[in-house]
Formats: sequence, C-alpha cells, structure tokens
Amino acid sequence: MSMLAGLDAEARRLANTSISDLIRQDPARASDFALRCGGLYANFARQRYDRTALDALFAIAERADLVGAMRRLLDGAIVNPSEGRAALHSALRGDNSTSQVAIGARAQAVDAQARMRALIEQLEASDVTDIVSVGIGGSDLGPRLMVDALALHDARFKVHFISNVDGNAAQRVLAGLDPERSAAIVISKTFGTQETLLNGGIVREWLSNDERLYAVSTNAERVAAFGVPPERTLPMWDWVGGRYSLWSAVGFPIALALGMDRFLELLDGAAAMDAHAANAAPRDNIAILHALTAVWNRNALHAATQAVLPYDDRLKLLPAYLQQLVMESLGKSVRIEGDAVEVDTVPVWWGGAGTDTQHSFFQALHQGTQVVPADFIGVLQADHPHAQNHAALLANLLAQTEALANGQGSDDPHRRYPGNRPSTLFLLDALTPRSLGMLVALYEHSVYLQSVLWGINAFDQFGVELGKQVASRLLPALEGEGEADDAVTKVLLREFSQRR
Ligand code: F6P
Repeated sequence: MSMLAGLDAEARRLANTSISDLIRQDPARASDFALRCGGLYANFARQRYDRTALDALFAIAERADLVGAMRRLLDGAIVNPSEGRAALHSALRGDNSTSQVAIGARAQAVDAQARMRALIEQLEASDVTDIVSVGIGGSDLGPRLMVDALALHDARFKVHFISNVDGNAAQRVLAGLDPERSAAIVISKTFGTQETLLNGGIVREWLSNDERLYAVSTNAERVAAFGVPPERTLPMWDWVGGRYSLWSAVGFPIALALGMDRFLELLDGAAAMDAHAANAAPRDNIAILHALTAVWNRNALHAATQAVLPYDDRLKLLPAYLQQLVMESLGKSVRIEGDAVEVDTVPVWWGGAGTDTQHSFFQALHQGTQVVPADFIGVLQADHPHAQNHAALLANLLAQTEALANGQGSDDPHRRYPGNRPSTLFLLDALTPRSLGMLVALYEHSVYLQSVLWGINAFDQFGVELGKQVASRLLPALEGEGEADDAVTKVLLREFSQRR
C-alpha cells in the first residue's frame, strides 16, 4: 500500500470546507500554522488542511522516517543509489554531521574555499573589471540567481553569464565587454557538456590573455585538455549534484560578485537551515511541513502545477532556479527500486516576480479552472529609499494571498472569485546572503523529503540524456553528412536545408 494511503479520505472529508471556513472554524491556526528559522518565517495557515489532516500528514512523515532520512543525507549515506553516490551539499556549508564521510567532504570544501579566496585576491589586484561565467543548468542557474539577487552596485567585478548554446547568448554578452579587462570561468561538473564546451571555446578565443581563463570541474584531465592549468582550476566532487552545487566552487562567480566574506555568509545561512531541517522536531520543522504540504497539494488535492511568486524584484530568477532544483530532482515515475510510482510525483513548477505577474498570469490564478497552489515570498526590509513603493509591494503581497484564499461572491458570474486557492507565505526579514542561503537550502531539503515520501531518487537525472544523444546523432545530418532515421525528422531536415 502506498505510503500516502489515508490522504484521499482526508481530502474527501474536507472537500466542502473552504480555506475561509477552516480559518473561521479555527482562528488560532492563523498563528499556529506559522514556523520560524532565524530570519525566515513561514505561514501555512492558508493551506487546505485542518489539524486532523495535518495529524495524518505527520503520521506519514513518521512512517517514512523523514527525520532519519535527513540524518542519512547529512551523514553522506548513498541517497543516490542509481549512481552509487552521496549528496553532501550540506558539507559544503557547515559542520552538521559527525560522520567520517561528511567530515572528509567538509575538509575538501574548506580547502577549496581557501583556494577560491586566493584566486579572488589575485584578480582583485589586477585590472580586471568584468567576469564572464560560462556554464549551464546547475553550473549556471544558482550563480546567476545569487549574483542577480545579492550583488551590490559598487561590486569590485561585474559578473556576466553565458549558458545557452544559441550563439546569440555569447554574442550579446561579449559585445558589451572589453577582452583586455575581462576574465572568464568555465564551469562544468563533467566538462563534457556540449553547450559549455562550445561557449567556453568562444570565450577562450575572445579573451586577450589566456592567464585569465579559470575552470571549475570534477574532471581535471578534460580541463587541462581544454587549456586551463591546475593552478587556475577549482575542484568539484561527485558527491555534489549539479543543481545542489552553488555552495561549492561552482559559486566562484558569486564569490567574485559578492566578495568571499558575503559568499561565506550565504553558506552560513544554508548551514543554519541544514541544522533546522535535521534537528527541529517535525511539527516545528519548515522543511518537513513544506514537503508534506507539497505532497498534500499534489496527491490529495491533485494540483497539476505549483507557482512560486517572489515579491521582490531581486528574486525574479528564483522560479527558474527552482524549476531545475525541483523538476530535475522530482520529475521521476519509477521508485528507487525500479517499480512504477503509484501516485503522481512532481507538478509543473512555474512563476515570476510580483507585482509584474499580477498583470500577466494572475487572472488565471484567480478565475481559471485549475487551482494552482502558490508559494509567496516577501521581504520586509527595503534596501532602497522608495518607502511608498515598498509599502505598495507589501500591500499587494498581502492582498493577493488574501484574495486567492477568500475569493468574493457576486451576482455576476464574470465578476465572481471562487477563492479557496491555497498558498504558503514566506517572509524574510531582509534579503541578505544569509537569509537567501536559508531559503534556498529550505527548498533543497523539502525537495529531498518529497522524494523520500514518493520513494524516488532526487539526485539522478537520466531523463535529460536521450535528447542529448539524439542531438549528437543529428548534428552530422544537419551539416549535410548522412540522413536521419525518423520520418518526420527527415522531412524537417529537408526543410532546414532548403531554407537556411
Ligand atoms: O541538464 C542536465 C545536467 O546534467 C544538469 O544536471 C547539470 O546541472 C547540467 O547538465 C550541467 O552539467 P555540467 O555541470 O556537467 O556541465
């Protein structure tokens, strides 16, 4: 029987009870369903469960041994059995384990941080003003998010990113830069990723000084063959997954943009969340409640998508970052043992920053036929002088969560708002390296705990391989050598060759 048995009965019991009813019947939930970890507050009162349904969810957490699962993760157990690997991203940012494996990993991480600091000091002493970071997926999205969210206006370096194999990406970034005043970092765990090798080659040609080319990878041989010597290569390890790697030397662009000390604050924030997720009792544990809520919305309420809505312009890349973290981790349909998962796994994650998105897709959130659970994220302290804007931003944040939950009746069906649309509200006291480290680590742990509840492996991603294999088979055909096998692709290739 599924680990999640019993949830359907809870959902049926609550089918005719709206969020407004739940709050009317139990007003104390407004504050009781709120948890805190340092400067991060989370309020789950507008989810569509009551205390009895929550008891059922926490019973599932106990049966699934989420507490033990967190410990195994931090201790470096093989949580990725299809590849025989641990997932020790927590060892990159703190000492939250006494296991020898985690202590060994931590020592390697600290050593790499010292090397990173030395390389940054060398660059700071040079006339370099701009850094070009080349990578994709986990070797791009985390650094891109953190630099966009946290870099200060007067930062020593401006950091630019190239990821897409579309040559326009390199063209547009490099057009605005002076190769004499630039350095570049090629980041790839495998150093075998087509996009990164092509873009890395473009940047290597473009740089006027080879000595300003750096690399981050697990594969020192491929890096050397590409032309970067060991003294300018920072390490990666197979115990860090790509999408969990911004805390490693993959974060070199972050450390350049923020300064090494602020990079370490980011790691400290994540380490504080590691400690919370591992040690807080389940009912006080934001990672556990967030994971249980995700499973409730997916498997009891059958929501097909999940929105993430940061109300802070600096977090506008967070949805793109979370799409990889969540969907590459949880987009699985077989369990760890290889048999089919009996329930739905990851919904489609999507979103964008408020208030802009209120004027694009919020219509569908309020009146569309699909209920979309949402995570709203607000930041209480403004880091700008525009107090009226900040008050308006926060008013909109509060208004949307309230309107989605409560709706509004009307005699005119076009003007009726059904409400009963669940959301979780996160509030950060301020947007700092520490608080953002905490928030991102929270999502990492929630994702892992969801994988435990579904019995799937959160740390492999074989689903991305087939497309890569077919593309490499088709590349010669596209260049006029050989034919495709597939009938439709054959027609399309003829179309390409006639019109290119
Ligand atoms: O998209 C597939 C993937 O393997 C991601 O998991 C990874 O983050 C990305 O490609 C980049 O891989 P690499 O760092 O090896 O270039």
